[in-house]
Amino acid sequence: MMLFCEPSEGGNIGTSERELREERLERVYGATSEDELTEAYDEWAADYEGDMLSLGYMVPSVAAGFIGRHVPPGGKFLDAGVGTGILGDTLRVLGYTNLTGIDLSERMMDIARKKGAYENLRKMTLGETLDFPDDSFDAAFSIGVFTEGHAPPESLDELVRVVKSGGWMVFGVREDVYENGGFREKMDSFEADGKWSLVEKSVAFTTFPAVKQSHGYRMFAYRVS
Ligand SMILES: C[S@@+](CC[C@H](N)C(=O)[O-])C[C@H]1O[C@@H](n2cnc3c(N)ncnc32)[C@H](O)[C@@H]1O
Repeated sequence: MMLFCEPSEGGNIGTSERELREERLERVYGATSEDELTEAYDEWAADYEGDMLSLGYMVPSVAAGFIGRHVPPGGKFLDAGVGTGILGDTLRVLGYTNLTGIDLSERMMDIARKKGAYENLRKMTLGETLDFPDDSFDAAFSIGVFTEGHAPPESLDELVRVVKSGGWMVFGVREDVYENGGFREKMDSFEADGKWSLVEKSVAFTTFPAVKQSHGYRMFAYRVS
Protein backbone atom coordinates (compact mmCIF):
# COMPACT_ATOMS: atom_id res chain seq x y z
CA MET A 1 0.00 0.00 0.00
CA MET A 2 1.37 3.44 -0.92
CA LEU A 3 0.88 5.99 1.79
CA PHE A 4 1.97 8.98 -0.16
CA CYS A 5 1.42 10.36 -3.61
CA GLU A 6 3.81 12.73 -5.33
CA PRO A 7 5.15 15.60 -3.23
CA SER A 8 2.97 18.66 -3.08
CA GLU A 9 4.00 21.70 -5.04
CA GLY A 10 6.91 23.33 -3.29
CA GLY A 11 7.90 20.11 -1.51
CA ASN A 12 11.66 19.97 -1.11
CA ILE A 13 12.32 16.35 -0.16
CA GLY A 14 14.49 14.47 -2.68
CA THR A 15 12.84 11.46 -4.34
CA SER A 16 15.13 8.76 -2.96
CA GLU A 17 15.05 10.22 0.52
CA ARG A 18 11.27 10.45 0.35
CA GLU A 19 11.07 6.86 -0.89
CA LEU A 20 13.21 5.65 1.97
CA ARG A 21 10.99 7.40 4.49
CA GLU A 22 7.92 6.05 2.75
CA GLU A 23 9.31 2.51 2.96
CA ARG A 24 9.91 2.87 6.68
CA LEU A 25 6.38 4.16 7.20
CA GLU A 26 4.92 1.39 5.06
CA ARG A 27 6.72 -1.18 7.15
CA VAL A 28 5.00 -0.14 10.39
CA TYR A 29 1.58 0.22 8.78
CA GLY A 30 1.99 -3.16 7.12
CA ALA A 31 3.00 -5.07 10.28
CA THR A 32 0.82 -8.13 10.82
CA SER A 33 1.59 -8.91 14.46
CA GLU A 34 2.58 -7.12 17.64
CA ASP A 35 6.08 -8.63 17.43
CA GLU A 36 6.50 -7.42 13.86
CA LEU A 37 5.28 -3.93 14.79
CA THR A 38 7.58 -3.76 17.81
CA GLU A 39 10.55 -4.87 15.72
CA ALA A 40 9.72 -2.35 13.00
CA TYR A 41 9.63 0.51 15.52
CA ASP A 42 12.75 -0.73 17.31
CA GLU A 43 14.61 -0.64 14.01
CA TRP A 44 13.12 2.70 12.96
CA ALA A 45 13.75 4.43 16.31
CA ALA A 46 17.01 6.19 15.39
CA ASP A 47 15.53 7.66 12.18
CA TYR A 48 11.93 8.12 13.35
CA GLU A 49 12.01 11.76 14.38
CA GLY A 50 14.13 12.84 11.44
CA ASP A 51 11.69 11.14 9.06
CA MET A 52 8.50 12.35 10.70
CA LEU A 53 9.56 15.93 11.36
CA SER A 54 11.07 16.43 7.93
CA LEU A 55 7.75 15.34 6.44
CA GLY A 56 6.08 18.05 8.52
CA TYR A 57 4.38 15.71 11.05
CA MET A 58 1.92 18.17 12.55
CA VAL A 59 -0.09 15.94 14.92
CA PRO A 60 2.02 16.85 17.98
CA SER A 61 1.42 20.58 17.38
CA VAL A 62 -2.34 20.12 17.10
CA ALA A 63 -2.32 17.86 20.19
CA ALA A 64 -0.34 20.42 22.19
CA GLY A 65 -2.88 23.08 21.18
CA PHE A 66 -5.79 20.88 22.27
CA ILE A 67 -4.08 19.96 25.54
CA GLY A 68 -3.21 23.58 26.29
CA ARG A 69 -6.79 24.65 25.56
CA HIS A 70 -8.45 22.07 27.79
CA VAL A 71 -6.15 20.38 30.29
CA PRO A 72 -4.78 22.36 33.24
CA PRO A 73 -1.05 21.73 33.76
CA GLY A 74 0.16 20.55 37.15
CA GLY A 75 -1.43 17.10 37.20
CA LYS A 76 -0.20 13.64 36.35
CA PHE A 77 -0.41 12.70 32.70
CA LEU A 78 -0.11 9.59 30.54
CA ASP A 79 1.27 9.65 26.99
CA ALA A 80 0.07 6.37 25.49
CA GLY A 81 2.20 5.24 22.56
CA VAL A 82 4.83 7.78 23.56
CA GLY A 83 7.32 6.78 20.85
CA THR A 84 10.42 8.98 21.02
CA GLY A 85 8.60 11.55 23.14
CA ILE A 86 8.00 14.32 20.62
CA LEU A 87 4.84 15.38 22.48
CA GLY A 88 6.47 15.40 25.91
CA ASP A 89 9.24 17.61 24.63
CA THR A 90 6.65 20.29 23.87
CA LEU A 91 4.42 19.63 26.88
CA ARG A 92 7.18 20.09 29.43
CA VAL A 93 7.80 23.58 28.06
CA LEU A 94 4.10 24.28 28.66
CA GLY A 95 4.23 23.09 32.29
CA TYR A 96 3.07 19.47 31.90
CA THR A 97 6.01 18.04 33.77
CA ASN A 98 4.65 14.90 35.44
CA LEU A 99 4.46 12.70 32.38
CA THR A 100 4.42 8.91 32.14
CA GLY A 101 4.94 7.27 28.76
CA ILE A 102 4.06 3.75 27.65
CA ASP A 103 4.92 2.04 24.39
CA LEU A 104 5.57 -1.33 22.77
CA SER A 105 9.02 -0.35 21.61
CA GLU A 106 11.89 -0.09 24.08
CA ARG A 107 14.15 1.47 21.43
CA MET A 108 11.66 4.28 20.79
CA MET A 109 11.40 4.88 24.55
CA ASP A 110 15.21 4.88 24.89
CA ILE A 111 15.19 8.05 22.80
CA ALA A 112 12.35 9.55 24.86
CA ARG A 113 14.28 8.65 28.02
CA LYS A 114 17.32 10.66 26.93
CA LYS A 115 15.20 13.80 26.62
CA GLY A 116 14.26 13.77 30.29
CA ALA A 117 10.70 14.92 29.61
CA TYR A 118 9.11 11.80 31.18
CA GLU A 119 9.11 10.76 34.83
CA ASN A 120 8.42 7.14 33.88
CA LEU A 121 8.62 5.17 30.66
CA ARG A 122 7.23 1.66 30.68
CA LYS A 123 6.67 -1.05 28.13
CA MET A 124 2.93 -1.78 27.89
CA THR A 125 0.53 -2.77 25.16
CA LEU A 126 -2.54 -0.70 24.39
CA GLY A 127 -5.47 -3.05 23.88
CA GLU A 128 -4.39 -5.13 26.87
CA THR A 129 -4.83 -4.44 30.59
CA LEU A 130 -2.56 -1.58 31.63
CA ASP A 131 -0.47 -1.97 34.77
CA PHE A 132 -1.86 1.14 36.49
CA PRO A 133 -4.54 1.37 39.20
CA ASP A 134 -7.88 3.00 38.40
CA ASP A 135 -7.87 6.82 38.39
CA SER A 136 -4.08 7.11 38.19
CA PHE A 137 -3.92 10.12 35.86
CA ASP A 138 -5.49 13.55 35.40
CA ALA A 139 -5.37 13.08 31.64
CA ALA A 140 -4.27 10.61 28.99
CA PHE A 141 -2.93 11.64 25.60
CA SER A 142 -2.34 9.47 22.56
CA ILE A 143 -1.20 10.52 19.11
CA GLY A 144 -0.13 8.59 16.04
CA VAL A 145 -1.29 5.34 17.63
CA PHE A 146 -4.95 4.89 16.65
CA THR A 147 -4.09 4.12 13.08
CA GLU A 148 -3.80 1.19 10.70
CA GLY A 149 -2.33 -1.95 12.30
CA HIS A 150 -1.52 -0.25 15.62
CA ALA A 151 -3.62 0.00 18.81
CA PRO A 152 -7.27 -1.21 18.71
CA PRO A 153 -10.38 0.67 19.94
CA GLU A 154 -10.36 -1.50 23.10
CA SER A 155 -7.33 0.57 24.17
CA LEU A 156 -9.81 3.29 25.09
CA ASP A 157 -11.46 1.11 27.77
CA GLU A 158 -8.23 0.96 29.73
CA LEU A 159 -7.32 4.60 29.13
CA VAL A 160 -10.70 5.71 30.49
CA ARG A 161 -10.23 3.41 33.50
CA VAL A 162 -6.87 4.95 34.46
CA VAL A 163 -8.06 8.57 34.09
CA LYS A 164 -9.80 10.18 37.06
CA SER A 165 -13.39 11.31 36.90
CA GLY A 166 -13.35 14.91 35.65
CA GLY A 167 -10.07 14.24 33.85
CA TRP A 168 -9.33 14.45 30.16
CA MET A 169 -8.53 12.31 27.19
CA VAL A 170 -6.94 14.00 24.20
CA PHE A 171 -6.08 11.77 21.27
CA GLY A 172 -6.01 11.54 17.50
CA VAL A 173 -7.59 8.94 15.23
CA ARG A 174 -6.93 8.44 11.54
CA GLU A 175 -10.15 9.12 9.63
CA ASP A 176 -10.51 5.76 7.87
CA VAL A 177 -9.67 3.87 11.07
CA TYR A 178 -12.27 5.95 12.96
CA GLU A 179 -14.92 5.04 10.39
CA ASN A 180 -13.97 1.43 9.61
CA GLY A 181 -11.80 0.26 12.50
CA GLY A 182 -14.40 0.33 15.29
CA PHE A 183 -13.39 3.67 16.84
CA ARG A 184 -16.57 5.53 15.97
CA GLU A 185 -18.70 2.80 17.58
CA LYS A 186 -16.51 2.60 20.70
CA MET A 187 -16.35 6.38 21.15
CA ASP A 188 -20.10 6.82 20.60
CA SER A 189 -20.88 3.99 23.01
CA PHE A 190 -18.82 5.69 25.76
CA GLU A 191 -20.81 8.87 25.20
CA ALA A 192 -24.13 6.95 25.29
CA ASP A 193 -23.06 5.09 28.44
CA GLY A 194 -22.06 8.33 30.18
CA LYS A 195 -18.38 7.37 30.45
CA TRP A 196 -17.19 10.60 28.83
CA SER A 197 -18.43 13.69 26.95
CA LEU A 198 -17.02 15.06 23.76
CA VAL A 199 -15.72 18.60 24.30
CA GLU A 200 -13.92 19.25 21.03
CA LYS A 201 -13.28 17.47 17.75
CA SER A 202 -10.90 19.03 15.23
CA VAL A 203 -11.52 19.39 11.54
CA ALA A 204 -9.84 16.67 9.50
CA PHE A 205 -6.25 17.61 8.68
CA THR A 206 -3.33 16.11 6.85
CA THR A 207 -0.73 14.64 9.16
CA PHE A 208 2.15 15.35 6.73
CA PRO A 209 1.69 18.70 4.99
CA ALA A 210 4.99 18.25 3.13
CA VAL A 211 3.45 15.48 1.06
CA LYS A 212 -0.01 14.63 -0.20
CA GLN A 213 -1.19 11.90 2.13
CA SER A 214 -4.08 9.63 1.39
CA HIS A 215 -5.68 9.81 4.85
CA GLY A 216 -6.98 12.58 7.08
CA TYR A 217 -6.67 12.71 10.85
CA ARG A 218 -8.71 14.26 13.67
CA MET A 219 -7.96 15.23 17.23
CA PHE A 220 -10.54 14.68 19.99
CA ALA A 221 -10.83 16.06 23.52
CA TYR A 222 -13.14 14.20 25.92
CA ARG A 223 -14.01 14.90 29.56
CA VAL A 224 -14.09 11.65 31.52
CA SER A 225 -17.19 11.22 33.74
C1 LIG B 1 3.59 6.67 14.84
S1 LIG B 1 4.35 6.34 16.38
C2 LIG B 1 3.77 7.72 17.35
C3 LIG B 1 4.70 8.01 18.48
C4 LIG B 1 4.44 9.34 19.18
N1 LIG B 1 3.16 9.34 19.85
C5 LIG B 1 4.51 10.45 18.16
O1 LIG B 1 3.47 11.07 17.87
O2 LIG B 1 5.60 10.69 17.63
C6 LIG B 1 3.37 5.01 17.04
C7 LIG B 1 3.91 4.51 18.39
O3 LIG B 1 2.92 3.69 18.99
C8 LIG B 1 3.51 2.51 19.48
N2 LIG B 1 2.48 1.48 19.45
C9 LIG B 1 1.85 0.96 18.39
N3 LIG B 1 0.90 0.09 18.77
C10 LIG B 1 0.95 0.06 20.13
C11 LIG B 1 0.23 -0.64 21.13
N4 LIG B 1 -0.76 -1.50 20.82
N5 LIG B 1 0.55 -0.43 22.41
C12 LIG B 1 1.53 0.45 22.77
N6 LIG B 1 2.25 1.14 21.87
C13 LIG B 1 1.95 0.96 20.57
C14 LIG B 1 4.69 2.24 18.55
O4 LIG B 1 5.67 1.44 19.15
C15 LIG B 1 5.17 3.66 18.24
O5 LIG B 1 6.15 4.09 19.16
